[in-house]
Amino acid sequence: MAHAEAGGSLPVPNVQALAQTYNRSDDQIPERYIRVDEAAEEVIVDHGTSSAIPIIDVNKLLDPQSSKEECAKLGSACKQWGFFQVINHGLPNEVISNFRNDMTEFFKQPLEAKKVYSMIPGNLQGYGQHFVVSENQKLDWADLFCLVLRPVDSRDMKFWPSHPPSFRNSIDRYSSEAAKLVSCLLKFLAMDMGVEPESFLEIFRGQPQRMRMTYYPPCRQADKVVGLSPHTDRMGLTLLLQANDVQGLQIRKDGKWVAVNALDGAFIINVGDTLEILSNGRYKSIEHRAMVHPTRDRISAAVFHAVCRDATVGPLPELVKNDGEARYKSMSYMEFVKGFFAAKLGGRGHVESLKNS
Ligand code: OGA
Ligand code: NI
Repeated sequence: MAHAEAGGSLPVPNVQALAQTYNRSDDQIPERYIRVDEAAEEVIVDHGTSSAIPIIDVNKLLDPQSSKEECAKLGSACKQWGFFQVINHGLPNEVISNFRNDMTEFFKQPLEAKKVYSMIPGNLQGYGQHFVVSENQKLDWADLFCLVLRPVDSRDMKFWPSHPPSFRNSIDRYSSEAAKLVSCLLKFLAMDMGVEPESFLEIFRGQPQRMRMTYYPPCRQADKVVGLSPHTDRMGLTLLLQANDVQGLQIRKDGKWVAVNALDGAFIINVGDTLEILSNGRYKSIEHRAMVHPTRDRISAAVFHAVCRDATVGPLPELVKNDGEARYKSMSYMEFVKGFFAAKLGGRGHVESLKNS
């Protein structure tokens, strides 16, 4: 697959192995990981049990009695926050727990076993790191494992781990359940925007889906490093699941970082650049980052849902008509992806550059 595979990366050390060395010694971690200023930015932390971001109940969306109200709440979450959590999402517990367990098992393996799946230059799948384009660039305190999940015939099975033995199956089941949930949410977002749900879903035909599993090793100097640099997600909707109760996600709200408290059994969902553009700016693709814990590892899986390859990335015509203007440029999906990689992980830089002034 040649598409979207631009944006390869320079080789960088394995962070899990690095953490094993440095967490046991008194030595300062390598300079390329030290990001004191960024790590010291003010963060609003809610120590209670609240989640910081809105909570959407899928049962209420589906219940004719409460659907309208919950749909408005969903729309407003995407407008005000760009992030929300979903509860009563209908994904079988067993699908989630199998996937979580297998993902944890996978990262626990010795480095040699994981290296079998190392990323190949020019291909964004496999085990490694992304977006390292210069020898001077500061590095994230995390290792990644990326896979194309859908359409099913675009899977490259050489990257699909054969250990633990149930992993391929648990990824497959998780992928199809995630795609179902996201289609359901997209349908309600279409209703919220007042566009035809069927034609809106058609833009996501074949449910193109990729996954990034991220392993954030503990860091003795956690207050000096960043797990995942600030960025926006480029696709439609992202569904994020943490493998354990270690928190780390922070979102940029009104210029400040807000720590998200993932509820047990819920998914964190966010609007990506593509959806912000399709919605003509109604919904917001919010900058976010992940920080690391001093003594515990954190694992997350982000499943990104994209528009189909022949789609146009641009404001929906019905909305342009309604709003009296197109607030973003329109382009082919391929052109959009190329621009994203050229912009690197530059916060909201790419999506801002696509705005019509
Ligand atoms: C991502 C992402 C956040 C996290 O993978 O795009 O934002 O908490 N992950 O791991
Ligand atoms: Ni992200």
